[in-house]
Amino acid sequence: MAVSMNNKCNLLSKIATNDGHGENSPYFDGWKAYDADPFHPQHNPDGVIQMGLAENQLSFDLIQKWIESNPNASICTPQGVSDFKEIANFQDYHGLPSFRSAVANFMNQVRGNRVKFDPHRIVMSGGATGAHETLAFCLANPGEAFLVPTPYYAAFDRDLGWRTGVKLLPVVCESSNKFKITRDALESAYENAGLVNVKVKGLLITNPSNPLGTFLDRETLKDVVNFINEKSIHLVCDEIYAGTVTAGNEFVSIAEVIEEVPKCNLDLIHLVYSLSKDMGFPGFRVGIVYSYNDKVVSIARKMSSFGLVSTQTQHMLASMLSDNNFVKNFISESRNRLARRHDMFTNGLAKVGIKSLESNAGLFLWMDLRRFLKEPTFEAELTFWRVIINDIKLNVSPGQSFHCSEPGWFRVCFANMDDETTMIALWRIKSFVRKNRNLEINTRKQYWQGNQHLRLSSRRLDDILTPHRMSPHSPLASPLVRAQN
Ligand SMILES: Cc1ncc(COP(=O)(O)O)c(C=O)c1O
Repeated sequence: MAVSMNNKCNLLSKIATNDGHGENSPYFDGWKAYDADPFHPQHNPDGVIQMGLAENQLSFDLIQKWIESNPNASICTPQGVSDFKEIANFQDYHGLPSFRSAVANFMNQVRGNRVKFDPHRIVMSGGATGAHETLAFCLANPGEAFLVPTPYYAAFDRDLGWRTGVKLLPVVCESSNKFKITRDALESAYENAGLVNVKVKGLLITNPSNPLGTFLDRETLKDVVNFINEKSIHLVCDEIYAGTVTAGNEFVSIAEVIEEVPKCNLDLIHLVYSLSKDMGFPGFRVGIVYSYNDKVVSIARKMSSFGLVSTQTQHMLASMLSDNNFVKNFISESRNRLARRHDMFTNGLAKVGIKSLESNAGLFLWMDLRRFLKEPTFEAELTFWRVIINDIKLNVSPGQSFHCSEPGWFRVCFANMDDETTMIALWRIKSFVRKNRNLEINTRKQYWQGNQHLRLSSRRLDDILTPHRMSPHSPLASPLVRAQN
């Protein structure tokens, strides 16, 4: 019996049978709840509102307008069909030259034209997901590691590690200094790796950060560049949220900073970009590896055969992203709309005393719900998260899925819905807080901190925080790509 079980397992590879895909996590309960009972303003007004999805849906009208006025950009219209044959036949892994130039142009504009990207260094991949894996394959061997400041994007473990065998080691950042990346934290993570004999090959930063919604200041970026140069390790900088920096704030790209750091070894610097967030095109799977290292450009391009962007998509985007007026207007209007939504949400939360990390980028807020936990543990965080899903009917993401070192933080996405749904989500949060405040008053157990902040009594918390309805392990059929956004 034992032998036949063993044989069964060996039928498949270690990669196929390990858990590196990350889907066996309680995180997916939220998705199950949403899929089973999705909110719809008319057909299901009491359903679960999806706030676990980092999508940028606020500016699609601008895209639609451009498409309507540029029918020749598509090979599937009478105006564009004459290009159909040539585009359908093209399969060079360098990509259409017009596409690479247009993407470089877009990347420049998103960074206020303060930097100039070279189209020859643009390498395609299947989304930022593919770009990260390609870089991991190029820069590290199985068992070697990248340091990653916490909290970090939930799917990095899968993207960088599942098929490559590369490890991620946390650089622990804390709320006491707004999750800043400090030299001490970097040194200590590096030393810890040494203690367990793991070779560190690089540092991966996400700027602006998912899930924090903040971006790094110039000094921190310089510190990071100095650190990796001193250790002679690579720096991978994920800038896929560069264009989401809200109006009135100026994003600083690593591409600017490396020009300001004397003796920076450019062979160590690599950027990951994608059109999934800034343009709101996650379905197009346009990811970019941009490396300053010639060898990496050359090998990543060869590897890109495994994740090319369809030429039909390249052709359309080459037109759209080289239209400077459109791009300029889109970037600025998208940033305005994100700023408005960001303010609407933070103000709404503030009215019931819920704080979030001060932020100025991204498609989400990092909500501080620590005082709602029965105790400061990750178990209590999961328990309260189930309350949010089952009672408040919002699918938000618990901090532990982002490797946050402190329980009680939750990421809530705000740009994947219209204003009405946002208002309903806010209303649900407010009424939850108020309802529980009234219960406190009824039982003469009011716990207010400084007139503003509500704390729930432990008796009431016990009532509310009874896990129910869902098992902790119920991965969905195939939600990972959406779920980990
Ligand atoms: C920081 C970060 N990197 C990479 C990705 C993956 O993006 P893509 O859809 O381009 O693969 C995401 C998606 O949410 C992300 O937040």
